Amino acid sequence: MTGGSGKLGRACVRDLVEHGWEVVNLDRAPSTDALAPYTEVDLTDYGQAVEALTGIDDRYEGVDALVHLAAIPAPGLKANAATFRNNALTTFNVFQAAKLAGIGNIVWASSETVLGLPFETPPPYLPIDEEYAPRPESTYSLVKTMEETMVEQFCRWDPELKATGLRFSNVMYVSDYAAFPAFEDDPLLRKWNLWSYIDARDGAQAIRLALGREGAGREVCVIASPDTVMSTPTMDLVNAYYPDLELRRPVSGHESLMSTEKARRLFGYDPRHTWRNHI
Ligand SMILES: NC(=O)c1ccc[n+]([C@@H]2O[C@H](COP(=O)([O-])OP(=O)(O)OC[C@H]3O[C@@H](n4cnc5c(N)ncnc54)[C@H](O)[C@@H]3O)[C@@H](O)[C@H]2O)c1
Repeated sequence: MTGGSGKLGRACVRDLVEHGWEVVNLDRAPSTDALAPYTEVDLTDYGQAVEALTGIDDRYEGVDALVHLAAIPAPGLKANAATFRNNALTTFNVFQAAKLAGIGNIVWASSETVLGLPFETPPPYLPIDEEYAPRPESTYSLVKTMEETMVEQFCRWDPELKATGLRFSNVMYVSDYAAFPAFEDDPLLRKWNLWSYIDARDGAQAIRLALGREGAGREVCVIASPDTVMSTPTMDLVNAYYPDLELRRPVSGHESLMSTEKARRLFGYDPRHTWRNHI
């Protein structure tokens, strides 16, 4: 796993280890957890990426599958050129190195941002899904879009390659949920991603299940929690902020406006967690 020391990575290492996988954490920073052996690598360096995926000394021999999460994880954390350089180079290097190493099963982190966040241009319809073309509105999101396009070509070159891009919503730990009730005071605070989130444990579940999906080729799937961050019913939010948008199917209760239907269908994604059980 690349980026196994990060927020999503730590939850994913835990989930995979608990489900019997042997995981090696390839990251440029150590993890606060010690659940998987850690090797420090800078994946912008192709040589290091190749060594990391073919096996470093006695750490491990060969790699069955790759989970690629390493990235600068949002717009604005670094200058755009630095985000572009790190994320684009890292993803090219790990896919190219995986090709060399003969790794045929890859799950990588794309992002909800490719759906058009922060929706200054409203989405084409609700609930949003994978059926419309990406609308990146930042350099971070532009790179995620480029990666999705690049992987399509890697899969065309190797028809046996299975590569699943997961468009994660905003990743949350249980410790983040204390802040949720305050969103109720100002719904505009979370309108930028249609009031969505993903519990890190369910994000990890999606990665594990995507590793086991049937078939080859590139697929991209939205991964969000089944509900919104709000106590206001979802239809009240739609009527207040997007009254003119096409509603493609009925939405009830606190249901998310990000559809995860495709992930459910393709690999049985079955989110189990909601912030409502922790407040
Ligand atoms: N956090 C979110 O809300 C969110 C939402 C959608 C998608 N994502 C994506 O999910 C992935 C994981 O995000 P996260 O929140 O865990 O981020 P994070 O910053 O907590 O973890 C990313 C990890 O990648 C490592 N890394 C970055 N560049 C590297 C490089 N060149 N070489 C080696 N290691 C490198 C970092 O050291 C870090 O440990 C990212 O690809 C991010 O873009 C995150």
